[in-house]
Amino acid sequence: MISRNDNKNVTDDSRGGCAVRVAAAGQDVLSGTKKEGQLAVERIYGSTFPVILGPMAGVTDLAFRLLCREQGCDVTVTEMISAKALYYGNKNTIPLLETDPGEAPVGVQIFGSEPELMGQMAHKIEDRGFAFVDINMGCPVPKIVNNHEGSALMKQPELAGRIVREVKKAVSLPVTVKFRLGFDEAHKNAVEFARVMEDSGADAIAVHGRTREQYYSGRADWEAIRQVKEAVSLPVIANGDILSAEAALAIREQTGCDGIMVARGSKGNPWIFREIRAALRGEPVPAPPTAQERIDMLLRHAALCVRYKGEYTGIREMRKHAAWYTAGLRGSSRLRQEVNQVTTLKELYELLTGSC
Ligand SMILES: Cc1cc2nc3c(=O)[nH]c(=O)nc-3n(C[C@H](O)[C@H](O)[C@H](O)COP(=O)(O)O)c2cc1C
Repeated sequence: MISRNDNKNVTDDSRGGCAVRVAAAGQDVLSGTKKEGQLAVERIYGSTFPVILGPMAGVTDLAFRLLCREQGCDVTVTEMISAKALYYGNKNTIPLLETDPGEAPVGVQIFGSEPELMGQMAHKIEDRGFAFVDINMGCPVPKIVNNHEGSALMKQPELAGRIVREVKKAVSLPVTVKFRLGFDEAHKNAVEFARVMEDSGADAIAVHGRTREQYYSGRADWEAIRQVKEAVSLPVIANGDILSAEAALAIREQTGCDGIMVARGSKGNPWIFREIRAALRGEPVPAPPTAQERIDMLLRHAALCVRYKGEYTGIREMRKHAAWYTAGLRGSSRLRQEVNQVTTLKELYELLTGSC
């Protein structure tokens, strides 16, 4: 049974954490601007220092988002959804819009390059219970970039600004934008781009501390995120390489961000959210999950996946998650091979019960 988190505690605790950061930066914690900033963050995300599950296509589906929420993640975002595919009513796209009341607040992420179409599609889906509409301007995949979508928009700030304005005009929800440091090393324009987003009416931005050229390699540049944070007054969510509770505290301290976004660190590891949550509260970080806890989570995840996607697709999609959950466990490579042969939930239970 999936239980909902008590978001109030997170809000109160994270306000405390934020106050420590602001005080450390020598600013007046009670200043009007800071209070307004906190209100803006809370209005969009429902907590004053949100810990957000970063969208990952093929990973952060409804089943996984629910498990992350259960473990203390404050906010989730759907996988990225093509505005064009929405327009054509693509049958593979509609399931990506599915949410569960238990996961609120959840944002919907759309991508595209045509301002009017983006506005129309955002309007079309905004009444499905989403807390905000996020626009993807960071995807590095060639198929997307060659269509002038995703991170390609960082090369066209004027077009990116028009997209934000059209989406803002079309919806009553907050509109957020997720982007990178720039297209490549020679074109690192995150600060200017963030200003364009702010001037175009974006309510918040999430910045991944890498360029498109870097994909996911090298280290995320948190210093560059700090520069973005200093340049704009809208909430800035820091993203990139938050792989532990310690990293969550460090990026908050280094960037002065208004919230954090965790993506790859959650794969096979929804517990990262309970660890980060404890650290942000100043409490001891819980011990990592035991082998049995990992197997139990894998099985619950599989059951949810089957519930939402049916047995055929659900079990096949679980294979990659199973590899992540069991990485490092004794006999994990043999187990992985066996999981890859399984085609029903019952077989998966039989295989994993008593496997550790
Ligand atoms: C498999 C995968 C799929 C991703 N899909 C999306 C996506 O749909 N939308 C998006 O904005 N970012 C996407 N990202 C980027 C992540 O949200 C995040 O910005 C990036 O992984 C850096 O954060 P991390 O170091 O916490 O992983 C994806 C990343 C991965 C690894």
